[in-house]
Amino acid sequence: MATNRTFTMIKPEAVENGHTGAILKMINDAGFRIVALKKKQLSAEAAGEFYEVHKERPFYGELVEYMSSGPIVAAILEKDNAMVDFRELIGSTDPADAADGTIRKAYAESKAKNAVHGSDSDENAEIEGSFHFDASEMF
Ligand code: CMP
Repeated sequence: MATNRTFTMIKPEAVENGHTGAILKMINDAGFRIVALKKKQLSAEAAGEFYEVHKERPFYGELVEYMSSGPIVAAILEKDNAMVDFRELIGSTDPADAADGTIRKAYAESKAKNAVHGSDSDENAEIEGSFHFDASEMF
């Protein structure tokens, strides 16, 4: 059964370029409730663990280096059909393919620096949310 929560990170280049507030506004305007929110910098070790599922991919090293290069903003979001609806809101991995009105269309620079992460399954949303937040940080 689908859960009503998903997990997101605003990635280093979007945070660095001052897009955090605008991206959070797009998320709010799309009807998501913020359950948990924090700004933090991942160590290379933590980024490697978070993206472990991509370990065999050719871009894994680049991804880990990039995701630990500066602060990110992590959040757990709540809405009916959260995971699917959020992936629609963020748009395609490659901003060249992202639809108008999506976060990546507005703010992504490239396939690697693509502004935001969104969980790709309910199971991963739970795992990824728990990676960044403990129960006392969820409201
Ligand atoms: P994300 O949704 O965070 O999940 C995995 C990430 O890997 C993805 O967003 C991109 O940032 C990155 N990624 C996917 N494909 C490529 C690629 N071909 N080259 C570089 N990075 C990629």
